[in-house]
Amino acid sequence: MEYRGYDSSGIAVADGAGISLVKRAGKLANLEERIAEVGEDSMRGTTAIGHTRWATHGRPTDENAHPHLSYDGRAAIVHNGIIENFASLRTELEAAGIELSSETDSEVAAHLLARAYNEGETAGDFRASALAVLGRLEGAFTLLFTHADHPGQIIAARRSTPLIVGVGDGEMFLGSDVAAFIEFTKEAVELNQDNVVVITADGYEVLNFDGSAAQGRPFTIDWDLAAAEKAGYDSFMMKEIHEQPAAVRDTLAGHFHDGRVILDESNISENDLKSINQVFVVACGSAYHSGLLAKYAIEHWVRIPVQIEVASEFRYRDPVLDERTLVLAISQSGETADTLEAVRHARTQGAKVMAVCNTNGSQIPRESDAVLYTHAGPEIGVASTKAFLAQVAANYIVGLALAQAKGTKYPDEIREIWDALEGIPAKIEQLLAVKGQVKEIADDLGAVRTMLFLGRGVGFPVALEGALKLKELAYIHAEGFPAGELKHGPIALIEDDLPVVVVVPSPRGVKLLHSKIVSNIQEIRARGAKTIVIAEEGDDSVEPYANWLIRIPATSSIMQPLLATVPLQFLAADIARACGNDDIDKPRNLAKSVTVE
Ligand code: M6R
Repeated sequence: MEYRGYDSSGIAVADGAGISLVKRAGKLANLEERIAEVGEDSMRGTTAIGHTRWATHGRPTDENAHPHLSYDGRAAIVHNGIIENFASLRTELEAAGIELSSETDSEVAAHLLARAYNEGETAGDFRASALAVLGRLEGAFTLLFTHADHPGQIIAARRSTPLIVGVGDGEMFLGSDVAAFIEFTKEAVELNQDNVVVITADGYEVLNFDGSAAQGRPFTIDWDLAAAEKAGYDSFMMKEIHEQPAAVRDTLAGHFHDGRVILDESNISENDLKSINQVFVVACGSAYHSGLLAKYAIEHWVRIPVQIEVASEFRYRDPVLDERTLVLAISQSGETADTLEAVRHARTQGAKVMAVCNTNGSQIPRESDAVLYTHAGPEIGVASTKAFLAQVAANYIVGLALAQAKGTKYPDEIREIWDALEGIPAKIEQLLAVKGQVKEIADDLGAVRTMLFLGRGVGFPVALEGALKLKELAYIHAEGFPAGELKHGPIALIEDDLPVVVVVPSPRGVKLLHSKIVSNIQEIRARGAKTIVIAEEGDDSVEPYANWLIRIPATSSIMQPLLATVPLQFLAADIARACGNDDIDKPRNLAKSVTVE
């Protein structure tokens, strides 16, 4: 689970006698080292809870790492999310003489549990004590509770953050996602919002927060351990870049039949789609960049306005939505809190919400009217690669479905676009060979302090995505701009030898756009920049202006981002390594799934 947070980690093991706890700041290897020091024999028991942290409250230190122990050392908890009323709970505990040992919002839950178990109405009753604590917490949380007196039980709860049960044979698991237990079982149970689950070695029981019985939804995980392993690659990110042809192919599979585009799991009827007169796209990070491409495609194919908004801003500015609005919520994990809240807001305003998501059974699709799953398989590298390309493909499917429903494209036009889309996986396969050339470019570049990325039209989101990859992996300043905007300010950044990536649109697309970007390249070269030009095969016009020229297979303009992004992924990884960041799967300060706002 390290990819979900890796600034510290810990484990607490309960047996009849007590709780053994080990926790350490830094990556999981530090915890492993510490466990070896204390000896595995001191960590034996029947139930264990563990945590890999992405800090919200309190720095990544040993003390702030989870699990947290209660004041009497008998209870332990781990927590994901934010307990919003922790300050008042902390004051209450301190007034009762309990000294807190961390700066986290989470620790209060451990002490509240012990107090509920030691005193008053719920004394001696683990389950009732856990429910009493849950009743006092505000915010978003997944919590696991363990108690030394009940070494055969773990009680867990979720509100707005993920929690999945894994059903083994004589053993049970809990995880933020299925990767936690895929090695042991493929049988899992999805829980609803505000559900509590009590697990023992032999079974599980789902409850509501008030203790009444509830139901989970059992499902079988449709990928195996190999999908979550590196398969000979030196990093998950490299493996995932190479899986992109399959990710796009599998995402497209089954969505075009007898000349018609088909959506899945949709509670939005063809008539509803017909009535849509505006689209909002909400997403974060790379998913947002894929959403920018949805805007280009939908406006062009469907001729309705598309607005795109970073999900964390969406609900705070009162967007104008109604039942004729389609909100496209794009998320690899399906758990991103910002996007989830945007979905909730859109639904309260009567808009129809369609999720584009890579994670079966996650919260965003569950709360949406419709979902189109990307089939990229599990993405472990924190920097999104294959999920991004799969999102672009899925967004295009949505665009085509809208064009079909609203009759803005003739069936033969839709087929022509679909054929171009279906041709993409083979072209990505061919393009993967660019890896060696990109490595040489990164070597030539040497130490880079800053880098710019330029594009026009659909090349602009590619520039943003290339810059984001470089920022998150190499920790160097990088910015993406529309090439035409450069002269309005950012051109002042250009100095001798500054590397600038330019994504050149197809010369067979909008003619003006191509010649304009050629002029832009000359403008930056004239000011000393070194250009890394990405252009399609056969486009010779750019050759004289490129310090390095990366060729990508020719395709239609709108499909070009599915190709042009690939060399930028390699480039970011190579520059990161040249800068000394070898662990490209786990860039500093980040986590794969951001379940706090
Ligand atoms: O799971 P999501 O697609 O909702 O995640 C959105 C972003 O957090 C994610 O794309 C992030 O920007 C990646 N680290 C980018 O590589």
